[in-house]
Amino acid sequence: MTKPKVGIIVGSNRRESINRRLAKALANLETDRLDFGWIGIDDLPMYNQDLEADRPETVRRFAADVGHYPALLFVTPEHNRSLPAVLKNAIDWGSKPTDKNVWRGKVAAITGTSFGAIGTAVGQQHLRQILGILGVLVMGGEAYISFRPDPVDNDGHFVDESKREFLQAYMDRFATLVTKLAGTS
Ligand code: FNR
Repeated sequence: MTKPKVGIIVGSNRRESINRRLAKALANLETDRLDFGWIGIDDLPMYNQDLEADRPETVRRFAADVGHYPALLFVTPEHNRSLPAVLKNAIDWGSKPTDKNVWRGKVAAITGTSFGAIGTAVGQQHLRQILGILGVLVMGGEAYISFRPDPVDNDGHFVDESKREFLQAYMDRFATLVTKLAGTS
């Protein structure tokens, strides 16, 4: 049976991003039920309405990539108690023009990690609010992950059993929601 397609968006442009490492491990938990792909946001220019008349190629590619996936998994750091600018910038590009808002109708889950104890809690709340405004159905529940000690190995598998169990349950709920709502197209 065809698996529903889920696009992963990592809210970091850092080469050694711990959120990208977490995202890989999350995808590895659910390969039987979901078909994951990656949506890059690092190469997008800063949003500028002057560019709307002739959108840069990277922006067109990004909008097409998001359009390809009925469901999205956001894995993001928190910057100064909010979502990182690189992620907000990508969301802004996708939201315009309003009649072509690429986010509307998507099903999504949010998680993220930092070295601190609250593991991106506030940044995730801001992201949840923004996605709601744009018409994304964001799964309820919360998954704030502290990356200390390092919970994943270099092959993208969890070495921390309690985090693996918690996130397996989170991802199982997401897979069920996506299968019900997003379909396989
Ligand atoms: C941070 N960091 C951070 N961490 C946190 O838990 N809450 C916060 O508000 C912030 N604020 C913040 C602002 C800025 C400008 C930077 C550069 C960093 C630390 C952050 O969690 C850490 O850099 C992570 O490594 C970011 O995740 P990636 O990029 O490795 O995925």
